[in-house]
Amino acid sequence: MNVSDAVSSRMSCRAFLDTPVPGSTVRAILDAARRAPSGGNLQPWWVYALAGQPLAELRAVVRTQIMTNPRGDGSHEYDIYPPGLGEPYRTRRFKAGEDLYATVNIPREDKMSRLLQLARNYDFFGAPVGFFFYLDRSLGPPQWSDVGMYMQTVMLLAREHGLHTCAQEIWSLVPATVGRFLDAPPNLLLFSGMALGHADPSHPINTLRTERATLEEFSSLRGFDAT
Ligand SMILES: Cc1cc2nc3c(=O)[nH]c(=O)nc-3n(C[C@H](O)[C@H](O)[C@H](O)COP(=O)(O)O)c2cc1C
Repeated sequence: MNVSDAVSSRMSCRAFLDTPVPGSTVRAILDAARRAPSGGNLQPWWVYALAGQPLAELRAVVRTQIMTNPRGDGSHEYDIYPPGLGEPYRTRRFKAGEDLYATVNIPREDKMSRLLQLARNYDFFGAPVGFFFYLDRSLGPPQWSDVGMYMQTVMLLAREHGLHTCAQEIWSLVPATVGRFLDAPPNLLLFSGMALGHADPSHPINTLRTERATLEEFSSLRGFDAT
């Protein structure tokens, strides 16, 4: 697989087979991703990876918390979207959500089914591996982007191993529950989770291919030959 194949075949997988992923593969992916760039080479990422019994225990703890309080821990790490999200972002977000629920035939009015589908996030969509990506609270936007680059590198390397992923910022809604379970130092901020495993090829939710704006819509190229 070349880089272009990895980029184009990566998609957010939201239904996994329970086929285990060997620890050696997880280690190889996280290890190779160390080559991700970061401003000043700070390498601000901190990663927790769970599988097997620890993952089962986390699932149970989080399930209890979410059933008691579907909105999460009450105190979240950050605003996933800014209040009053403007255009064109609002429309794109709306469309991605509608397209996702359409794959599993959940209409807009069926709030309960939508909520249950959303809650599948906290099961890592059935994946055998769950990651948590943290960074130090003292760091700022440039370092958040560095962690994003590490995550994308993990997602592309996963493709090379025939695996799929789903980045999951929803985990930032339960930072206290996760932090307590992992015994994560309080100076670390939970940026995102990520599911890793083998995609369930027969699940309709994995048929979603999200749209993208065209290159012309978001870029300005100057001084190049016309092609
Ligand atoms: C940092 C980050 C966090 C995300 N968090 C979630 C999440 O919590 N739950 C989810 O289902 N998808 C999540 N996604 C997936 C996005 O919805 C997805 O990347 C986007 O709709 C584009 O679709 P694609 O990944 O299939 O190309 C996240 C993606 C990123 C990059």
